[in-house]
Amino acid sequence: MIGIRNIVVLTGAGVSAESGIATFRGPGGLWEGHRVEDVCTPEALADDPALVHRFYDLRRAALAGVVPNAAHDALARLDRGWRGELLIVTQNVDDLHERAGAVRMLHMHGELNSALCAACGARAAWREALPPGTRCAACGSGALRPDIVFFGEMPYHMTRIDAALAAADLFVSIGTSGAVYPAAGFVQTARAYGAATLELNLEPSAGSAWFDETRLGAAGALVPAWVDEVLGAG
Ligand code: NAD
Ligand code: APR
Ligand code: ZN
Repeated sequence: MIGIRNIVVLTGAGVSAESGIATFRGPGGLWEGHRVEDVCTPEALADDPALVHRFYDLRRAALAGVVPNAAHDALARLDRGWRGELLIVTQNVDDLHERAGAVRMLHMHGELNSALCAACGARAAWREALPPGTRCAACGSGALRPDIVFFGEMPYHMTRIDAALAAADLFVSIGTSGAVYPAAGFVQTARAYGAATLELNLEPSAGSAWFDETRLGAAGALVPAWVDEVLGAG
């Protein structure tokens, strides 16, 4: 890719759909049957901690039965092969990017395999069920909660993400509906700083108009083809 050195990739639930993890807003999406306000807000955690913990326990347990798909594998291949700067920012709380081998990536909405202490802020790797009242190893309080960024909370790593967007020559959004800010605004930030913008998604997203190019289709097909283009021309 001529003139491209810094790449930022944003991924959403669509990149994991072909691994069998339901998306949030599609048919059969995770919020169906659960109003999002019931499971994904600080208020819900305070009012009904058992429900919130159970919801994330089920999602954490489900990770054991899924594997990365061709899109995760291709992004890991991009990470290994791209000599310029790269940052893969995922909104997903699964661990499929890292299981595929991606290293230059971060989780802006937290991780299922992590617990956060609401009392002291410590984060700890967590693979098991996390019942309400579980004690924090760092401070001893019973305030461990799923390490998930709820609606209304500040996503992780925003300083690093903003710096990468400002330096990006190419911004690529994969498998996200563009419904949730601040991630939905990354395309506009990258554009304002001069990046070319590309969207790979099953259907047009809320932000499609902001992209120089949109390719519609399954991530498992579109992402490997795009990575071939980038590495072939790099
Ligand atoms: P919003 O986009 O203005 O605000 C979302 C806020 O939550 C932001 O401040 C963002 O930083 C923060 N946030 C942090 N982590 C988040 C995370 N993991 N998921 C979501 N937000 C996170 O307004 P909003 O009302 O929260 O809704 C955003 C969009 O999502 C809207 O377009 C809304 O229609 C849609 N939405 C869909 C559902 C659903 O699918 N059932 C439910 C609620 C909202
Ligand atoms: N290939 C490519 N795209 C796909 C595929 C696929 N196989 N399957 C679905 N998609 C697309 C859908 O068309 C949709 O536009 O992926 C997108 C998934 O959108 P959402 O379900 O809204 O997921 P996401 O954008 O990641 O949600 C953002 O919302 O609730 C919060 O914190 C949660 O991180 C999440 C955030
Ligand atoms: Zn603690």
